[in-house]
Amino acid sequence: MPATITAISRYLPPDIYDNSYFEKYLDTNEAWITSRTGIKERRFLKEGATSDLIVPAAQKLFADYNIDPSEIDTIIVASVTPDHMFPSTAAVVQDKLGLKNVWGFDISAACSGFLFALKTAASLVESGTSKKVLLCGSDKMSSIMDFNDRATAVLFGDGAGVCLIEMSDDPEMGIRDHILQIDGDGGKYLKQIAGGSFKPASHETIDNKEHYIFQDGGTVFKAAVKGMADVSVEIMRRNNLTHDDISYLVPHQANMRIITATAERMNLDPQKVMINIQKYGNTTAGTIPICLSEWYEEGKIKKGDYLVLSGFGAGFTWGSILLRWNMNQRGR
Ligand code: UT7
Repeated sequence: MPATITAISRYLPPDIYDNSYFEKYLDTNEAWITSRTGIKERRFLKEGATSDLIVPAAQKLFADYNIDPSEIDTIIVASVTPDHMFPSTAAVVQDKLGLKNVWGFDISAACSGFLFALKTAASLVESGTSKKVLLCGSDKMSSIMDFNDRATAVLFGDGAGVCLIEMSDDPEMGIRDHILQIDGDGGKYLKQIAGGSFKPASHETIDNKEHYIFQDGGTVFKAAVKGMADVSVEIMRRNNLTHDDISYLVPHQANMRIITATAERMNLDPQKVMINIQKYGNTTAGTIPICLSEWYEEGKIKKGDYLVLSGFGAGFTWGSILLRWNMNQRGR
């Protein structure tokens, strides 16, 4: 039996920053940001860390779905902005939620983090190692953003999406297929240069601003368009699905133009593409579960729907997961 998502929730910090926020002190403007990225607003967490985005999302998940937290046996956190290098954010979340008899770990796969973690969680469930996995995709991108660099500052936001992964009660539902890839040759184009064992923090690394996001945007853009579209088309092809069979593309929200190019290669109707980049920007590991949570809560996903989840990010990492939704439609 395949594993599946049985509950989903999200948390976005309340403080909204629209494009005019950057216009005040950076050489940028609303028209450039909107036309080149599709982003209009993003949220930044003023106080706290990535675990402080995850914990309220998890608490809402437990409350909304009447989940007994003591039944969670595994926590997986996908993030490139963990609270610390160690201990893991999974351990911090366990402690803050007061969960007992649980294990867990973090996954570092940048914008593909949720996809990599979803497949990992599913494998744990399908092998019988875990029964209920609390799966969290979250980033506090504001903690590694250079607010004085117009090329990156306008792109990112903070947020969390969390879900519960369990065995499906139907062999036709749940996680049906995956294509997940890494290519370290792309590492130089999108990275946090310092702070790890390669270049530990020093006065020099601070002076050189090497703890912030570095991105060669154009190179990443081209690789993302090809990478996301290739795996999205391939996962449809090898499962004998056409654009008519797919209910939604659930794309990583990095750039509206990357999303549109992927949907076009899939020959998908624009209404079948989940897009909320205009409200939250790129929340890295948060984008896909935040989208799923919003669309599900609004009653737009129904049981049996085929969803193609696709992402591309630092590493390079990329991939797609074919998910057949196994929850009853909200509000029906
Ligand atoms: O999520 C992880 C993976 N990341 C991605 O998928 C991001 C991929 N990359 C992108 O989304 C795009 O490359 C960006 C949105 C980052 C940049 O868009 P672009 O169309 O590739 O612009 P560009 O970097 O080629 O820059 C075009 C021009 C440059 O000026 P010149 O050299 O033509 O005079 C930039 O300096 O736009 C300028 N520019 C800006 N202008 C106003 C760059 N950032 C800004 C800005 N405001 N914020």
